[in-house]
Amino acid sequence: MINYTEKIPNNVDLGRDRVLQRALEHWQPAFLGWWYDMGPAESRNYDVYLRTAISVEPDGWAQFDYVKMPEYRWGVFLQPRDENRQVNFGTHKGQPAWQEVPGEYRSTLRRIIVTQGDTEPASVEQQKMLGLSCPSLYDLRNIFQVNVEEGRHLWAMVYLLHRYFGRDGREEAEALLARRSGDTDNPRILGAFNEPTPDWLAFYMFTFFTDRDGKFQLCALAESGFDPLARTCRFMLTEEAHHMFVGETGVSRIIQRTCEVMKENKVEDPADLRALGVIDLETIQKYLNFHYSVTLDLYGSDVSSNAANYFTSGLKGRFRETKLEDDHVLSGAVYPVSEVVGGKIVTKTVPALTALNERLRDDYIDEIADGVRRWQRVIDQAGIPFRLTLPHKGFHREIGNFAGLFISPEGEALTEEAWKKHEFEWLPSPQDYAFVQSLMSGRVTEPGKFANWIAPPLRGINNQPLHFEYVRFN
Ligand SMILES: [Fe+2]
Ligand SMILES: [Fe+2]
Repeated sequence: MINYTEKIPNNVDLGRDRVLQRALEHWQPAFLGWWYDMGPAESRNYDVYLRTAISVEPDGWAQFDYVKMPEYRWGVFLQPRDENRQVNFGTHKGQPAWQEVPGEYRSTLRRIIVTQGDTEPASVEQQKMLGLSCPSLYDLRNIFQVNVEEGRHLWAMVYLLHRYFGRDGREEAEALLARRSGDTDNPRILGAFNEPTPDWLAFYMFTFFTDRDGKFQLCALAESGFDPLARTCRFMLTEEAHHMFVGETGVSRIIQRTCEVMKENKVEDPADLRALGVIDLETIQKYLNFHYSVTLDLYGSDVSSNAANYFTSGLKGRFRETKLEDDHVLSGAVYPVSEVVGGKIVTKTVPALTALNERLRDDYIDEIADGVRRWQRVIDQAGIPFRLTLPHKGFHREIGNFAGLFISPEGEALTEEAWKKHEFEWLPSPQDYAFVQSLMSGRVTEPGKFANWIAPPLRGINNQPLHFEYVRFN
């Protein structure tokens, strides 16, 4: 018998909720089994300097200490309730926010929660092997932090399933531990979460691009009329910020190191840079193209009646819904979407209600563009004439209006043959992956040391110095 209030930090009165306790009593050992099986390789005895969420207070929620990851206290936290909160959009706009699942939306809501929940363990599975090739203790600690928090995000969704969806919720919670990233028979639900994350450049790109998709989905769900979902997602966003920080600074440090080596040695040729043990900017651009394009697919079809239904029903809002100045029902509003007509990309307007996926994707692209500009500044400051660019939205897409088409990064519609001829100028080739992999054949474990291909960060975690022993192997 688990002492829930001690073991599972929470603000949902878990100690007094017998039904929830029974469900978790069954699920928690299965979760640990999954963690041993699919969590970070060989890590179970490591002492890791981690933060644990122990409350929802804005400046007191994170507690830092050495923890063995299987003993991490995965908690259940919801942003405190606002008694006056309403449904803020769709046909139920103005009604009090729902504290229980509206019967008519039960299966839709369950599907939304399961789809979000599925991404959380998926990314842990994708990153399972990376600890064995970490570039420093600082970076090792960061990936473990991301992993345990994705574990907590799974808990957050499982809490909703257990608490609000009865037996079918419990079944879905088990299925979340049964699917496996990349598995042919029982894969994760969404495409990008079945792609491998083979190396640390891919990991940083993933946390920059794909965790940011997570942010935008959570922001849209944080507007939900179903109040427990909104409050859960609101709190998850506080953790997501760190994941994106790890990604942005990770890529930035790789760029910085490459630029340093380019200047010190006065070389530009990728082959020369590779010989010097750093990742050439061309390869970084190709990784960027890959992760950007597979992440854009996560937003779904440009025109979608599901997206319209989620909005009209009050289940999933827009990015910053309550800050937007319109009627919040989108009556008569239109939105531009792209499509290819006669070999040319054209824009047409469609009812805004049906284009909500595209709109969220566009909001995401704006934020991505800002981050890429910050990476560009590192290159500019080194005085190197190289431009990082975001490929055209239609490049390398498998979902939506561009699916099945062959769009170049510049936005030209090509024949399959012409596109394939250039594929590995635009996307990482097997040789590119093999090269990046070759840099990461072992791990760097001496405190304060960093692999040759990445610059140290500006500062440590929680005001600790860079030479702090962020992970103890025992
Ligand atoms: Fe997450
Ligand atoms: Fe995340």
